[in-house]
Amino acid sequence: MSEARKILVTSALPYANGSIHLGHMLEYIQTDMWVRFQKLRGNQCIYVCADDAHGSAIMLRAEKEGITPEQLIDNVKAEHTADFADFGVDFDNYHSTHSEENRELSAAIYLKLRDAGHIATRSVTQYFDPEKGMFLADRFIKGTCPKCATPDQYGDNCEKCGATYEPTELKDPRSAISGAVPVLKDSKHFFFKLPEFEAMLKQWTRGGALQDAVANKLAEWLDSGLHEWDISRDAPYFGFEIPDEPGKYFYVWLDAPIGYMASFKNLCSRRPDLDFDAFWNQDSSAELYHFIGKDIVNFHALFWPAMLEGAGLRKPTAVNVHGYLTVNGQKMSKSRGTFIKARTYLDHLNPEYLRYYYAAKLGRGVDDLDLNLEDFVQKVNSDLIGKVVNIASRCAGFIHKGNAGVLVASNAAPELTEAFKAAAPSIAQAYETRDFARAMREIMGLADRANAWIADKAPWSLNKQEGKQEEVQAICAQAINLFRQLVIFLKPVLPNLASDAEKFLNVEPLRWDDHQTQLADHQLNPFSALLTRIEPAKIEAMTEASKEDLAAAEATNQPAGNGELVKEPIAAEIAFDAFAAVDLRVALIEKCEFVEGADKLLRLSLDIGDAKRNVFSGIKSAYPDPSKLEGRLTLYVANLAARKMKFGVSEGMVLAAGPGGEEIYLLSPDSGAKPGQRVK
Ligand code: MSP
Ligand code: ZN
Repeated sequence: MSEARKILVTSALPYANGSIHLGHMLEYIQTDMWVRFQKLRGNQCIYVCADDAHGSAIMLRAEKEGITPEQLIDNVKAEHTADFADFGVDFDNYHSTHSEENRELSAAIYLKLRDAGHIATRSVTQYFDPEKGMFLADRFIKGTCPKCATPDQYGDNCEKCGATYEPTELKDPRSAISGAVPVLKDSKHFFFKLPEFEAMLKQWTRGGALQDAVANKLAEWLDSGLHEWDISRDAPYFGFEIPDEPGKYFYVWLDAPIGYMASFKNLCSRRPDLDFDAFWNQDSSAELYHFIGKDIVNFHALFWPAMLEGAGLRKPTAVNVHGYLTVNGQKMSKSRGTFIKARTYLDHLNPEYLRYYYAAKLGRGVDDLDLNLEDFVQKVNSDLIGKVVNIASRCAGFIHKGNAGVLVASNAAPELTEAFKAAAPSIAQAYETRDFARAMREIMGLADRANAWIADKAPWSLNKQEGKQEEVQAICAQAINLFRQLVIFLKPVLPNLASDAEKFLNVEPLRWDDHQTQLADHQLNPFSALLTRIEPAKIEAMTEASKEDLAAAEATNQPAGNGELVKEPIAAEIAFDAFAAVDLRVALIEKCEFVEGADKLLRLSLDIGDAKRNVFSGIKSAYPDPSKLEGRLTLYVANLAARKMKFGVSEGMVLAAGPGGEEIYLLSPDSGAKPGQRVK
C-alpha cells in the first residue's frame, strides 16, 4: 500500500436542543462507515464532532425547562453521545461548540477577518419584543399571511400558500415568545463580506470538492450574486461575545463550523502525536472532509471556505452531501410513528441492521433515501442472516463436532478464494468513493457464490456417509475462510458483527489486507448466533412507541349511520380565511378494501398527485362492494391532522354527503379533474 494518508473527517454538529433521530443517523452512520474503512486500510483518519450548543432556540428552551443553557446542553450531550455510541458511531472526539477552544478559535478567526477588512458594520431594523427585551428571529414572529390571510404563520414564509416575505409584511404580528406586539428597532450588525470571495468560490466549487449536483446548485447562487452575511446577534443570546463589541454575539452559524476545529484542537491536547497546525495550515498535506445533509450546503460550501480563506487557513478537500431520509416513502411523521428517535430504535432493534440497510441504499448522490420498513426487514433477513451469517452457522458445527474446533488447512475452492481477492480493489474503490450501495452489492454477490458452492458440496449430506470426514472438514474450513473474507469487507459497516466474528475465529482484529490470507490448522472458538432475524413484530412495536399520543382514537367524523334523515341547520358563518385554511384536493381511489374487525370502515388508498394517502372512512354500509370505488375520483381534505385508529392511521378525510347507512354519497368532481388538483 502507498504511504498512509492523514485524514480529518467531520459530521455536521447536531443541535443541542433535541434528540437524535433516524434522519440524523443517516449522516453519522455514513460518515462512520467511511472513517472505519479508512482506518481498516491503515490510514490515519480522525473523526471529530460536537454538539452545536449556541443560539436563541437553546436559550429559550432552557428557560422553558427552568434550567440554565449550560445544564441543558450538558444533558443533551450525554444523551447524544450515548445514542451515537450505541449505534457504533466511533468518534475520536465529541466536543461542544460551547467550549474554551471554540471561544478562542472563533475570536482569532474573526479578528483575522476583521483586520483583513472582511467585516462590515451597519444598522439593521428588526422586530423587537418589548416585553421580552430581545430581537426576534423570523421563526419567533407569528402573524397572518399577507398573501392568503392564513393566521398563525411564521415570520418568513407561509406554510399554507408557500409565500415568502419579510416579517414586516406579516399582518397582525405577534412575538411567538411572549405574545406581545413587536416593535421595530435599529441595531448595529456585523457582516462578513462574502462577495469579496466570489472568484475564489467560483473556482473552488468547480474544483472537485463537491458533487456535480451540489456545484450546479451553488452556481445558481454564485451567478445571481452573493450577499454580505449577517454574523452578529444582540444580547440576550447564548453564544460568544464578539471581541471588543460588548452586547454583540456571534451568530450560531459563525462559530458552529469553527467547532470542527475546536473539537480537533481539544483532541490534540490529549494526543501529542497530532499536530493541530499541520492539519489546518494553508499548505497542509492532510485531507479534510465534511459530511453534511443537503439543507446546510451554503454554510459549508460558501461561507465556510470563504471564512477559512479569509483567515489564511486551508479549505476542505471535499464537502460530501447526502439527501434526506424518508420513511415508507414519506417525510418522517409523528402521527404515523415514522419519526423514530435513535433511542426508540435501539430499544427494539439491533443497530447493525440499520447500518447495513443505509449502506445498501447509500450511493454517491444527494438523492433522498427511503427507509421502507418492510423492505428493511426483508433485505436484512435475506442478506445478513440468509447469506452472510448463514455460511458460518451452517459449517461451524461440523468443525466443532468433527474436529474439536480445529479448522484444517484447505484449498477446496481455490477459484472462490481467488475471486474474493480479485474483488477487493473494486469493493475498496466503492467505499472510497462513498458508493456503499455498490460495495454491498458486490459483497452480497460474493456471498451468493459462496452459498451456492456450499449447497453444491452439501457437507451435511457427506457428513452422514462413511469415510467422508476429511472432505467435510475441507469444505467447512474453506467456507469459514470465505466467511472471514466477507467479514473483512463488511467490517466498516458491521463493526459488532466483525468483532463477534473475530472472537469466534479466534483472531486479532482484522485489517483490510487480511483478506489476502487464509486461516489454516487453526483453533476456533465456540460458535454462537452472530445475528438473528428481524421479527416484524419488533418493527410494529417501534412505530407504536414512536407515535404521539393522539387523543382522538376512533373515527369521529363519520356520517351518522342511523339511516334517518336529519335536518341540519346551516352552521355559524365563518370568515373566508377559515375556509381557505382547508386544503381540498382531487383524489383518485386506487384501492378500496374492507378493514378486518371494523363494521363501518373501508380503507381507501388515495393518489393525490405527488403523494399517496391512507384513509379510513365510515362508508362501508353504502358501498358493500368496495372494489366498485376503485378508479373513481373524489374530494379529499389533505391537511386534516392524521388520526390514529385501532386499525392504523387515517390521513385526512374523503368527502361524502347523506344521512348515513346505505345513503352515503361520495362526492366526485366532473370528469377531467386530475388527482392532486386543489379545490378553489
Ligand atoms: N447544527 C447544524 C449543523 C452545524 S454544522 C457546523 C444542524 N444541526 S441538525 O441537528 O439540524 O442536523 C445535523 C445533520 O443531520 C445535518 O447535516 C442535517 O442535514 C442532518 N439531518 C437532519 N435531519 C435529517 C434527515 N431527515 N435526513 C438526513 N439527514 C438529516 O443542521
Ligand atoms: Zn399564505
